[in-house]
Order: sequence, then structure tokens, then C-alpha cells
Amino acid sequence: MPPYAIEFSDVKKHYHAASQRVEALRGVTFHIDGGQFVAIMGASGSGKSTLLHLCALLDRPTSGTVKIGGQDISSLTERQSVEFRRYRVGLIFQQFNLIPNLSVWDNVLLPARLAGKCNAEVMDHAAHLIDRLGLSARQRHRPEALSGGEQQRTAIARAMVMNPAVLLADEPTGNLDSANSRQFWSLLSDMIGSSNLTVVVVTHEPAAAVEADRVVVLRDGVVAGQFDVEEARDAGELAARYQLLTR
Ligand SMILES: Nc1ncnc2c1ncn2[C@@H]1O[C@H](COP(=O)(O)OP(=O)(O)OP(=O)(O)O)[C@@H](O)[C@H]1O
Ligand SMILES: [Mg+2]
Repeated sequence: MPPYAIEFSDVKKHYHAASQRVEALRGVTFHIDGGQFVAIMGASGSGKSTLLHLCALLDRPTSGTVKIGGQDISSLTERQSVEFRRYRVGLIFQQFNLIPNLSVWDNVLLPARLAGKCNAEVMDHAAHLIDRLGLSARQRHRPEALSGGEQQRTAIARAMVMNPAVLLADEPTGNLDSANSRQFWSLLSDMIGSSNLTVVVVTHEPAAAVEADRVVVLRDGVVAGQFDVEEARDAGELAARYQLLTR
């Protein structure tokens, strides 16, 4: 059996701020199979972003183990962590985080340029992504000339340009109106399609979570429960199941 794409075992993460200890994660155990699309839901402060940062190797757990592709991240050297962030994960944030003075095209190619891998194959892939995301006519424009939806679609292309194994997104539609938000989720699920990409998305929106395979609910830094999206008939039923787990 191949290893899980992501595996958390009794993961704790504590922060120290203003001489107070904050227990952001208090023993999180769950796993995600390769190719699965998982939505992480939970109230504000329940630990969702903390969990995502650990998946992205932007932070390390205080205790417990996080394995990515079967490898314990605490055993990675700094160099291996950099390689992992460059080649294996794509990140999308709520604030689109595009570089203001670069065009769509240059923003999308930025990860390849930073890795010194901006070859013809990567440029073809970038052009293909831009086309699929409906941005071809906008590729010379800078972010300020784009709508919020277009900026976030640019961020999808940038996150996918290196063909990552794992795509991580933290409330990617938090700054979009409902029409742009719907378009984002349907484009994302089209792009994932039958690929083997593992996707972890933090979202508050049941209408978005229905695009996922599985919902993992956090409450006060632990997994309150999880369920297959197939078990819910629609967004309303998904929302009801989520509410039950957060009570
Ligand atoms: N760098 C930090 N220093 C101190 N405390 C932190 C830090 N990052 C997060 N926390 C605390 O850890 C807890 C979990 O935070 P986290 O950002 O993971 O929540 P969240 O579920 O993403 O919330 P939201 O939905 O509001 O984004 C919160 O109580 C938060 O204040
Ligand atoms: Mg958060």
C-alpha cells in the first residue's frame, strides 16, 4: 500500500504569545489518501490555519508526528524542506498574495523562476493553466487591473505551475463574492478532475465543501469528526452535519 499523502499522529502545536501559552492543536490524528480532496472546517480559532501550515512545512509541530508522503517531516533537513516547498506543495491564500508589479504571466511563472526551472516545458504548462482558467486575455495585466476572481484564478495557476503533489488552500474564497466563489470551486474541481493531486482546503462554506471528497471538522484544536461528502445529499445537509460536530 502506498503511504498516506498526509498523516497526523497526536499532533500538538503550542504558541507562546505575550507570556501566554496557546494550545492551537491539542492532539490531532487523521490521514488523507493520495488524490483525495479534503475540506477542513471549524470555528474561528479551532486550529485550521495552524494545521495547514504544518502540512506546508511552514511550521513544525510541538509534539507528535506529521508525515507527508510517508516521510516524517521532523527528519527533513532544511534543504529538503526548501525542496519540498518548491516542488511538492502549491499554496493558495485568502489574500491572493500576488506580486503587484508583475503581470499575470510573470506571477504564474514566479515559483519556476525562483527554483531556476523556468524551461520550455514549464512555460507550456503555465500557458495551458492560464488558458484553462480563462485568463489568456489578461496575462499581460498586473494584479491591480484584475477582478478578485481573476486574481484568485491567477493564484491557482501559480500554485499548480510546478505540478505539485499537494495543493493547500486557506479560505481561498474568503475575499470573493458568491458568484466568483462558485466559479473558483467549480474550476478547481475541474482542474483536479481525475488527477492524483491531493487537495486540502480550509473553508467555512458548505457550498464549497460539497466539491470535496471528505470533510474533517476541527473543534478547539482537535478533530471533532469527519465524514464523506457522499453521505450528505446537498450543501444544506452537509452544513447540518458540520453543525452537529461543532456543538
Ligand atoms: N503565531 C501565533 N502565536 C500565538 N498564537 C497563535 C499564533 N497562530 C495562531 N495562534 C492561536 O492559535 C489558535 C488557532 O489559530 P488558527 O489560526 O489555526 O485558527 P483558525 O481555525 O485558522 O481560525 P480562523 O478561522 O479565524 O482563521 C488561535 O487561538 C490563535 O489565536
Ligand atoms: Mg485561519
